Amino acid sequence: MKKILVTGGAGYIGSHTVVSLVEQGYFPVIVDDLRNSSLVLLEGLKELCGDRFSFLSIDICEKSHLFSVFESRAIDAVIHFAAYKSVGESCDVPLRYYQNNLIGLMNVLEACQTFKVEKFVFSSSCTVYGEPEVRQVFESTPKRLPESPYGFTKWMGEQIIEDIHRNPQPFNTLCLRYFNPIGAHPSGFIGELPVGIPNNLLPYITQTAAGIREHLTVFGDDYPTPDGTCIRDYIHVCDVAEAHVRALQHEGSLPLDVFNIGTGKGTSVLEMVRSFMDVSGLNLPYQLGARRPGDITEIFANVEKSKRELGWTAQRSVEDALRDAWNWEQQLKQHD
Ligand code: NAD
Ligand code: WQD
Repeated sequence: MKKILVTGGAGYIGSHTVVSLVEQGYFPVIVDDLRNSSLVLLEGLKELCGDRFSFLSIDICEKSHLFSVFESRAIDAVIHFAAYKSVGESCDVPLRYYQNNLIGLMNVLEACQTFKVEKFVFSSSCTVYGEPEVRQVFESTPKRLPESPYGFTKWMGEQIIEDIHRNPQPFNTLCLRYFNPIGAHPSGFIGELPVGIPNNLLPYITQTAAGIREHLTVFGDDYPTPDGTCIRDYIHVCDVAEAHVRALQHEGSLPLDVFNIGTGKGTSVLEMVRSFMDVSGLNLPYQLGARRPGDITEIFANVEKSKRELGWTAQRSVEDALRDAWNWEQQLKQHD
């Protein structure tokens, strides 16, 4: 059974990926010091996967600790999620973001070289496209400078990976550029755990519906879009998880390749609000507010390459994701 090291495997996308890996017969080895997660997700993983994974509480920036994992286990491939991910926070404490996201990545890459793993999968982001000239982006759409230190860590992460692949590496790399992952596992055992006031739309919606927040503020209704609100490519987190399994199975000829992980469809903020009300049967209090600085008007993925070369395409709808996110929010209340 292939052992897959999953850094950040106790986090939001990582935990869903661990479930997909187990379902497909892999043995995930989670390395995560829980700095942005909690035992709630590990308990959920135990419910879903039993003992078909292992967990090690390690800071990947501690190189000797990370290397000891590779020394004691024959790791076949690495999926690297562990990073900080808040755009706003990265503007307040940029050094913390550069240190964790880049030193962590470089340590993991060095371990992949030293221990000759077969494959490396990197969590990248649509943030590397910056504010694109086109609404729908292809993998070949030129990258642009991101708006935040967080975005730069992904942009520079891809650059570091590109640079090391100028020389032959023992491993192949796939950079997966996720668009807007939302939702939760349909079982309600795992989902997103935002710390403090959520920045992202979906957790803000579900917390408002749960009565934790008074109302949602829609950031800007004067954008040049059909209803005036911004458009994004929201993708169910279980679809994102499954893309990683396909990435591991991918037998491309290139030492380094990049894939968009989205649905190929854009949805506006107001469409999200209305769909949530339909799915939940609740009235969601919201107000129209000012634009949020740094927001881009519209971006969604072209997913033809992922479909053609990874054999992967999103299977779940935005409504499925909203339903599962709401179910998860209600489960979370029971943990309080
Ligand atoms: P998350 O915060 O839920 O998960 C990240 C996990 O990594 C957490 O469990 C955290 O405890 C762990 N971690 C962070 N630094 C660590 C360190 N130094 N050592 C050990 N563990 C560490 O985030 P997520 O939403 O699951 O995102 C996973 C990856 O996907 C990140 O790299 C993120 O930048 C990227 N990404 C996320 C989104 C999104 O919208 N969620 C979109 C695009 C890309
Ligand atoms: C979505 C839309 C907001 C909250 C971020 C990162 C990006 C990537 C995905 C990691 C926007 C609007 C939001 C609210 C609102 N992550 N909104 N009221 O900004 O597309 O992308 O997550 O790589 O790098 O920047 O996602 O969920 O924050 O916002 O109206 O209270 O919802 O203005 O139009 P975003 P988001």
